[in-house]
Amino acid sequence: MRRAIYPGSFDPVTNGHLDIIERGCKLFDEIIISILINPEKQPFFTIEERMEMLAEVIKEINQGDCNVRIDSFRGLLVHYAVSQHANAIVRGIRAISDYEYELQMALMNRRLEPGIEIVFMMPAETYSYVSSRLVKEVFQLGGTITGLVPPLVETRMKEKLDRQR
Ligand code: PNS
Repeated sequence: MRRAIYPGSFDPVTNGHLDIIERGCKLFDEIIISILINPEKQPFFTIEERMEMLAEVIKEINQGDCNVRIDSFRGLLVHYAVSQHANAIVRGIRAISDYEYELQMALMNRRLEPGIEIVFMMPAETYSYVSSRLVKEVFQLGGTITGLVPPLVETRMKEKLDRQR
């Protein structure tokens, strides 16, 4: 049983994340998408909202062979990964600029827990510039994000922004 954790903030999930999940499904029997509960950060969507959106958008992926589930965690990622009996942690790398930080984290995680492999995966080029941070910025300033996030996420972002105004 090859089980991977795909950790992150997913605030919100983008099409780039989904691309990584679909690719990860070719390598692992199970992927647990795990949202970090980070009290230090002021997120756009609550943990519950992010989990609900992810659950909705992965329904299609789950119809194939792949088994994907959603969870959240606090504290050290490697402790959480061990508690889930995971063999690997998946991280998406878009550009060289991601690599330096990701390498640092990967090596620290490996030092903390040598039994867990860190797997870097590349999304399709189409998504190589897409990040949750940019999506939020563009959207909040009135730009279009169609095609960068699932339609459900776009709808939820509109609703949230309307409520805030
Ligand atoms: O989507 P993000 O914000 O880039 O994800 C970052 C994440 C959640 C993978 C990273 O911040 C993390 O693993 N945090 C948990 C705390 C931890 O284990 N820190 C030590 C990392 S070496």
